[in-house]
Amino acid sequence: MQASKALEISENLRERFACARNVLVLTGAGVSAESGVPTFRGGGQTTVWKGMPFDVISSARMVERDLPAVWEWFDYRRKLLEKLSPNPAHQAIARWQDRFPGFTLVTQNIDGLHHTAGSREVIELHGSIWRARCVACSARADIRLLNDERPPACAECGNYMRPDVVLFGEMLPAGAFERAVESAKNCELCFVVGTSAIVYPAAALPEVARASGAYLVEVNPEKTALSEFCDEAIQGKAEKTLPLFCV
Ligand code: OAD
Repeated sequence: MQASKALEISENLRERFACARNVLVLTGAGVSAESGVPTFRGGGQTTVWKGMPFDVISSARMVERDLPAVWEWFDYRRKLLEKLSPNPAHQAIARWQDRFPGFTLVTQNIDGLHHTAGSREVIELHGSIWRARCVACSARADIRLLNDERPPACAECGNYMRPDVVLFGEMLPAGAFERAVESAKNCELCFVVGTSAIVYPAAALPEVARASGAYLVEVNPEKTALSEFCDEAIQGKAEKTLPLFCV
């Protein structure tokens, strides 16, 4: 039996990490895998819920057709997430925010685990499962502070609220992607962690960073469509790899 190769950070990357002033980290479902959150692709995913495929129950059409069913689905998912904790990858990223003069964390995850780990500013491209948004006036509320009424009523205008997440067939929240692109243009070092990097527009961020001269590093146990395009593709798990930068 062959011994598994120990994970190592190249000297080149260590130096870049030590000297970088502007760093961007883009994360996907893989960063939360160790915490117990299933990824979307490559196993584990609940593809059908109460007879409905994932992309049907999580769709803009379903909000119009059956908002209570959408709430039931997200309440179910939130109950599962409630019990989970950040892992060493989230914790390492949270420590990085104070290490660089410019640091931007962009996530496609809705699980809130970066916040729980202590990351103060997170660009949540796909929203958050912990927030509700009014369908009429877009006022937002922390779901943990709402009562159990479903759908909840908006405190501002009395209309219905929905989960504040990006569903299939919907646009990203206004301004979030634009802010992420600005950071991608200005960073010298860009980490792409635990994402299959195939869902646009998020997948465009590494391209923007690289085109603007950033050193692009992928952390993923599997090869992705992005791997070839990166300066370094570290084939390792996020929770094992990212803490190596903190020593
Ligand atoms: P995917 O499920 O597409 O990809 C997860 C990636 O994480 C895969 O490339 C895995 O190899 C990798 N992975 C698994 N375990 C890992 C670990 N321990 N450490 C590091 N990487 C690991 O998830 P996303 O790329 O996040 O959008 O998916 C993007 C979007 O697709 C989601 O945000 C969601 C979905 O449609 C919406 O819901 C709007």
